[in-house]
Amino acid sequence: MSIPYLSVRDLSVSFVTGTGNFYAIDGISFDLARGEILALVGESGSGKSMTSLSIMKLLPAVAQMSGRIQIEGQDISAFGRRQMQDVRGAKIGMIFQEPMTSLNPVLTIARQMTEGLVRHNGVSRREALATSYTWLEDVGIPEPDRVLAQYPHQLSGGMRQRIMIAAALALRPGILIADEPTTALDVTVQSQVLDLLVDLKSRSGSGILLITHDIGVVAETADRVAVMRGGRIVETGTVDEVLRSPQHDYTKALLASHLTVDKGLKQREAEFERARP
Ligand SMILES: Nc1ncnc2c1ncn2[C@@H]1O[C@H](COP(=O)(O)OP(=O)(O)OP(=O)(O)O)[C@@H](O)[C@H]1O
Ligand SMILES: [Mg+2]
Repeated sequence: MSIPYLSVRDLSVSFVTGTGNFYAIDGISFDLARGEILALVGESGSGKSMTSLSIMKLLPAVAQMSGRIQIEGQDISAFGRRQMQDVRGAKIGMIFQEPMTSLNPVLTIARQMTEGLVRHNGVSRREALATSYTWLEDVGIPEPDRVLAQYPHQLSGGMRQRIMIAAALALRPGILIADEPTTALDVTVQSQVLDLLVDLKSRSGSGILLITHDIGVVAETADRVAVMRGGRIVETGTVDEVLRSPQHDYTKALLASHLTVDKGLKQREAEFERARP
């Protein structure tokens, strides 16, 4: 069997509290391959963001982490700051829940996009700028030249979200972690951004860990799903398996509260039908 690009084993994250240890994540395991979309779904506070921050090693200093995280078979659990700088961006890209947290407010878009390319891909600044321009076009930004010269606060939320996707994918990471990439956007832009992620995934070959509390989004985009509750994965399988015959009561409740799931599955079926020769 081939080695998965990302492998997470027995991951736990705890915080010391007045009444003992609180486990934000309690022994979760999963794999993610290139070109695959794994959705991590669960209610607020179930540990989804903590999972992505653990993989990126961006947990708050007071958090205690245990378990094993491997990238292409290499254990990164013990990596220091330096080594993680090489992993972040190049091997694992991340789109944060709130775009303003990952875009630097005092740097132009050009500066932020080219920096990673120059550092990780060893290209010249001029080449990096050309690549950035192309990716901005690819994510549907009109007039990339003008946007490259601008600062994040001069752009709309939807534009910033697209720029974050472009900046992350330009580095061609093995996997992309997208933490609620569309919650800050209005509904029409939401579905555009999701379509964009799926489309770019097929082109770049990156795997995507898609974090969402919206099971309708899972139905429309993901290959596999892991349902989280209280820091644990309570159910996992292909999207069809889990959404069509959920085993866990929590998954059933989650499905019952979402009317869009059926629509999402039907849409996919229709697409499969259309794609058939
Ligand atoms: N610094 C901290 N100290 C103690 N507990 C924390 C800290 N940061 C987060 N937590 C707790 O960890 C748990 C998991 O939080 P996490 O942010 O991963 O949830 P989430 O699933 O991403 O939720 P949401 O859907 O709201 O983004 C929560 O119960 C949260 O209160
Ligand atoms: Mg979160």
